Amino acid sequence: MQLCKRHSILRMRYGVFEEQMLNPSCHDRQAFTCGVSELDEYLQRFAVQQSKKGISVVRVLIDTDMPRTILGYYSLSAAQIDATSLDAHTQQKLPRYPVPCFRLGRLAAHSSHHGRGLGRLLIGCVVERCLEARQYVAAYALVVDVKSQTAQAFYEHYGFIPCLDNPMTLFLPLST
Ligand SMILES: CC(C)(COP(=O)(O)OP(=O)(O)OC[C@H]1O[C@@H](n2cnc3c(N)ncnc32)[C@H](O)[C@@H]1OP(=O)(O)O)[C@@H](O)C(=O)NCCC(=O)NCCS
Repeated sequence: MQLCKRHSILRMRYGVFEEQMLNPSCHDRQAFTCGVSELDEYLQRFAVQQSKKGISVVRVLIDTDMPRTILGYYSLSAAQIDATSLDAHTQQKLPRYPVPCFRLGRLAAHSSHHGRGLGRLLIGCVVERCLEARQYVAAYALVVDVKSQTAQAFYEHYGFIPCLDNPMTLFLPLST
């Protein structure tokens, strides 16, 4: 995979992809399906409003040959986490008050492309954006709340660590 930061162009073996801000007049939200209806519904019904209100930033992945088709998306927001929910070793390094983070609200790839590397590409985009944003606003980690063990396994595969008080909340220290 080759990432051209300036244009968010991602070249892979089977296509050239671009990461863009969700734009309802350019992207076909209704055709998106990832196999989890809640994640489809979020993109179709709530993502645009949440972006406008400053609740989340929603970015999509498209193939430059079919720019209306959403191949994957993710949403990111500012967040905080209580240091006491992290492991003892991590806690020692952190203040006692809530620690600033980014929250990965949603992430999904189109069902017809599962297993072809889009999930990996999306996670790479998310981390890249967090590291960029961290140059201006401090954040210790990227946090995600998962609803299933499948999703939990996916994030653990990328080094996310379950919180002590709730294993369905996972975090990825951004310094790693
Ligand atoms: C989870 C999801 C994003 C993965 O996307 P994908 O395009 O199928 O995944 P990729 O082909 O990029 O796989 C990337 C890596 O993750 C691994 N992986 C994929 N799904 C996994 C899972 N459920 N558990 C553990 N590892 C997983 C792959 O083995 C692969 O490993 P590798 O890079 O070492 O070869 C996709 O299946 C999806 O959108 N599912 C429905 C929505 C969902 O469950 N989202 C979860 C986050 S909220």
